[in-house]
Amino acid sequence: VDSRKSWIRQPIVVVLGHVDHGKTTLLDKIRGTAVTKKEPGEITQHVGASIVPASVLRKVAEPLKKYFPKVKIEIPGLLFVDTPGHELFSNLRRRGGSVADIAILVVDIMEGFKPQTWESIQILKERKVPFIVAANKIDRIPGWKSNPDQPFLETIRKQSPHIVNRLEELIYRLISQLYEAGFMAERFDRVKDFRTTVAIVPVSAKTGEGVPELLALLTGLVQRFMKKRLVTSDEPGKGVVLEVKEEPGLGTTIDVIIYDGVIHRGDTIVVGGKDKPIVTKVRALLMPRPLQDMRAHEGKFVSVEQVVAATGVKISAPDLDDALAGSPIFVVSSEDKLEEYIKLVREEIESI
Ligand code: GTP
Ligand code: MG
Repeated sequence: VDSRKSWIRQPIVVVLGHVDHGKTTLLDKIRGTAVTKKEPGEITQHVGASIVPASVLRKVAEPLKKYFPKVKIEIPGLLFVDTPGHELFSNLRRRGGSVADIAILVVDIMEGFKPQTWESIQILKERKVPFIVAANKIDRIPGWKSNPDQPFLETIRKQSPHIVNRLEELIYRLISQLYEAGFMAERFDRVKDFRTTVAIVPVSAKTGEGVPELLALLTGLVQRFMKKRLVTSDEPGKGVVLEVKEEPGLGTTIDVIIYDGVIHRGDTIVVGGKDKPIVTKVRALLMPRPLQDMRAHEGKFVSVEQVVAATGVKISAPDLDDALAGSPIFVVSSEDKLEEYIKLVREEIESI
């Protein structure tokens, strides 16, 4: 009998795209939305990631009810990995794919596909990560009337016909470029089958127009097609190392994304190292200190007893100097399984 407690975790979302097409601005906008619309006490900031809680998804989706009446939110939120780009994405490896459950490919709608857009799509294809396209910077279409933070379907109704036509042309260019890359694509509100067609959401990361649909669509897609992948339980944690970092007073630490299970302070972990897997014990699990608690004499982090998937957390432990970004990290369930875990980490490192 399996007595473990299980839950649906936050899907892990990554943002990719060409330089200057607006990845950071979009993440900042999403993070800002999460902070201003959250309930008191809800934590949105993680190490290397930020969470948009379900309560925020509900509020953001509210004005969309008349277009999509049936969206019920069952996930606890969305976890966005904070440092966007290729290099980061390649650190999100997991056997047979990626730790990213879904991606946003950001394309400047005025520029269309650029070299790193093609590269990003190639990487997503190789790792089999589903994605949606954020057709960004719609506010830069000459003559566009901005309606800050409104749904795309509202703001489009307030534009003059020739602006609507111009937008359609620009979207059509993206559809052709996606076709060249091997994907059927369509504006999100015209997609009939999301399993075969990539959805394009026109947005402005600057004004927030279209961001409600972007969040609602991510939510809808993962709930419809990925719920099984999102089920986790209080089993020994699994994660991936995003970054290896020196911290004043703590020495070498690792920033990890836990995508499955639980990790406790004091747990034995195995993590990939330069020459061989490192076996060590978690000295501290560190989360960013909430801004309102900032006091001059305290550090940037608060120590917690345990974290559950999905989470971005900093781990302080002895012997992490040789730890490798991109390597797996496993909590060892019992000492007699240690050799098994070491072998597993070694195999995964070799497959990178
Ligand atoms: P890299 O991290 O260098 O790859 O760039 P990025 O993709 O993170 O782009 P970033 O968010 O830094 O944006 C690049 C520039 O475009 C900045 O000057 C932003 O202010 C601007 N920008 C981003 N999104 C929008 C938008 O929706 N509308 C307008 N008008 N400007 C935008
Ligand atoms: Mg950036």
